[in-house]
Amino acid sequence: MYAEHRRQFFAEMEDGLALVPASHGQLRNQDTDHIFRQNSDFMHLCGFEEPDAIAAFVKQGKKTRYVLFVNPRDPALEIWTGRRAGTKGARKDHGADEAWELAEFGTRLPDLLSGSPCVYMPLGPDSFGPAWPRQNDVMRAINALSYKRKTPLVVPDTLRDVRALLARIRLRKSAAELELLEGACAVTAEAFAEAMSCAKPGVREYQVKAVMQLVYGMRGGDWAFDTIVAGGANACVLHYVGCRDTLRDGELVVVDAGAELNGYCADVTRTFPVNGHFSPVQKRVYNAVLAAQHAAILAAGPGVPVDQVHEAAVTSLIHSMLKLGALKGSEASVRRSGNWKRYYPHGTGHWLGRDVHDVGDYANRESVTRLEPGMVMTVEPGLYFPPDDKRLPTELRGIGVRIEDDILITETGTRVLTSAIPKSVAAVEKACAVRSSWLKKPVI
Ligand code: GLY
Ligand code: MN
Repeated sequence: MYAEHRRQFFAEMEDGLALVPASHGQLRNQDTDHIFRQNSDFMHLCGFEEPDAIAAFVKQGKKTRYVLFVNPRDPALEIWTGRRAGTKGARKDHGADEAWELAEFGTRLPDLLSGSPCVYMPLGPDSFGPAWPRQNDVMRAINALSYKRKTPLVVPDTLRDVRALLARIRLRKSAAELELLEGACAVTAEAFAEAMSCAKPGVREYQVKAVMQLVYGMRGGDWAFDTIVAGGANACVLHYVGCRDTLRDGELVVVDAGAELNGYCADVTRTFPVNGHFSPVQKRVYNAVLAAQHAAILAAGPGVPVDQVHEAAVTSLIHSMLKLGALKGSEASVRRSGNWKRYYPHGTGHWLGRDVHDVGDYANRESVTRLEPGMVMTVEPGLYFPPDDKRLPTELRGIGVRIEDDILITETGTRVLTSAIPKSVAAVEKACAVRSSWLKKPVI
C-alpha cells in the first residue's frame, strides 16, 4: 500500500524535492511518554512508525528518489524503547532508495535541493503545534545554493505546502484504504453493541467508555478520539469530556466514539435511552434528528457540492424545531435570523480517514468542493436543547440528540459504512434490551 501511495505522490508532485516529517515523541512527565502516534501524512507515504524521521522525495522528470532520514541504531536506548530500523533497516525493510542518519539532514540538503525547482515542506503552524522547526535549515540551504547559482544549476524558486498536496491525495480513498476503514467501522459497531447493553441506570459514563475501549483493544485497535459518553444534559456539551456522571433513569445518553484500526478511523454517534425506552418527547426529538440525517445522506452523492449535505440537514432541522415548538415563526424567518443555530450549532460532517477529522478542503477561493467517488465523510446532525434555556418548552430542556454515520461516496450515490449499528427507535431499543455481561459484576 505504501509503495502505491508513494507512486501516486510522485505522480502528483512537480519536479523538485518534497519533505515530509514524522511525529516527535512527547514526554508525559519525567520518564513516561504519551502514546506515540505517527504523523498521518508521513505514515501515508512511508508506513514507518519511528519518531523524528524525515522523508525526502526527489523527482526529476521520470527519475525519482525516496530518501529516509532516521534515528541511528542505539543499543543502550533500544533496551528501553525497542529496536530501531536504522539506516540499513530503512532501506531493506521500508523501501527507501537511500537512508541517512538524521544528523546528516543538513549536510545532505544541498544535494537534494540542487536540480529541484520546487520545494514542498510543511509551511506554517500545524493544528497541534508550531511550524516545522527544520524549515530554517531548508531555507538556509536554499539561500546558500542560490549564491552559487550558475547555469545549468537549477535552484528552487517555488515553495509549496506539502500538506496541501497530501490533503488532495488523501481525500479520495483507494480500495485498500476503504477495506481498512470498513475494518474500523466493524470494530466500532461491536463497541456500540457493548455500549448499548451496558448503559443502564446507575452505570457511570466512564464505564460505558471502558467497555467500548475494551472492544477496540481486543480487536487490535484503539480509539480514534477520546470517547464521548454524555448522559442527560451533558449531551448539550458537544465535545463533553467529563465522563464521570452517573447515567439516570429517564435520560438519554449520547455516545460519540470510534475505533482507530490499522491507521484508519471510524466516527459514530448514537443516542439511546438509559432505561431502554424512549419517552414520547425523546422519541420526537430523536426522529427529528434521524429525519435530518436521512435528508443529508440523501443529498450526498458524486458531483454534489459538500455544503449541500449540511443544507439538507439544516432545512430538515429548522422544520422540526418549529414543529417541536423550540422556535417560533416561519421557516424563512428562522433561516434569516439564524436562530436555528441556538440548537444546532455545528456543521453536519467532516472528512474521515487516517484522521478522524481528516485532511481535505471543503472549499477553495472559487468554489465549494464537490463530492467524488472514494471520498468518505461523516453525517452527524443533532439537536441540543440546553437545560437552562427558558425560551424552550419545559419538556425539551436538557434533551440532546446526535446521530452520526460514516458514508462513502460511490459512482452512483452513497454507501453507509456504519449501517450495522442500530439506529431506528425500534432497533436501538432492541439493542438496549441486551444486558451486558459486565453488569453481572458489581462495578463502582
Ligand atoms: N467525533 C467528534 C467530532 O466529530 O467532532
Ligand atoms: Mn464526527
